[in-house]
Amino acid sequence: MLPELLHQLVQQTVSGSESLLAPWAWAPALVLLIVLLVYGIFLRKLDYTRSLEDVGYITFDGLSRRDTANRIRRARKEGRVPPVYPNGWYLVMEGDQLKPGEAKSVQMIGKTLAVFRTESGEAHILDAYCPHFGANMGAGGRVVGDCIECPFHGWQFRGSDGRCARIPVLAEGGKIPEMARVTSHIVKEVNGGLYLWFDAEGREPTWDLPVIEEIETGEWSFKGRTRHFVNCHIEEINQNGADVGHLTTVHDPSFFGGTDLRYIFRWWSSFLWQKFSATWKPCTEP
Ligand code: FES
Ligand SMILES: [Fe+2]
Repeated sequence: MLPELLHQLVQQTVSGSESLLAPWAWAPALVLLIVLLVYGIFLRKLDYTRSLEDVGYITFDGLSRRDTANRIRRARKEGRVPPVYPNGWYLVMEGDQLKPGEAKSVQMIGKTLAVFRTESGEAHILDAYCPHFGANMGAGGRVVGDCIECPFHGWQFRGSDGRCARIPVLAEGGKIPEMARVTSHIVKEVNGGLYLWFDAEGREPTWDLPVIEEIETGEWSFKGRTRHFVNCHIEEINQNGADVGHLTTVHDPSFFGGTDLRYIFRWWSSFLWQKFSATWKPCTEP
């Protein structure tokens, strides 16, 4: 009885493996794999973020990478540092992340900001804390006409100049006090981005954002990005771009080599390389 059962089982297994080897069995799986690869490489928009501790840290014994990054940050010697936020245009968000009638709270340039878009499509940015009782207008504020309405007692502030336009409990003919205003920031929407002008002394923009025609006309469109959070002063990234010498040693290996600079030159990742070259010449005007 037992040998007979075993014989049957072996026969079933063999016929099963034969069917697995038949083209009609694996062809659909292969097609599916190719479709997924094509979708992943050409159609899916890459949106990848590396957090602070992901790059540049070798862990101390017994500590996680995150704890190592934090310990190094705390141990850093404080010297003379440039202003935390250099003057210039800052990207607040992509334009399509703010729908008409929507308000958002954003933390940047050392402030909490209320960013909102009117129904007619105009974007405004105000300091978020209401001068009445300090509510964050970006969190729960309602867009009313060209104003944002504070979620606490309903005062309304104009996006264009930050002045209070309405206080619901104000008696007929009552005067809106002068203090009822918040700072309104200079905003510009260009190249698909929503930008804010920051100047430490409150001056007007000293330069304009260049318009990239290919983006404005739709010839170029967003296909993907990677974002890296790093532990440095905001200007260091830009200044590092001038250091052409590091491009070959740091950036030539492909991402297959990983992010640990000790091991990025691996034989199995060397089938793909990036080649950078750059030269500098004096600017004709400042
Ligand atoms: S806190 Fe904003 S209206 Fe009172
Ligand atoms: Fe670099």
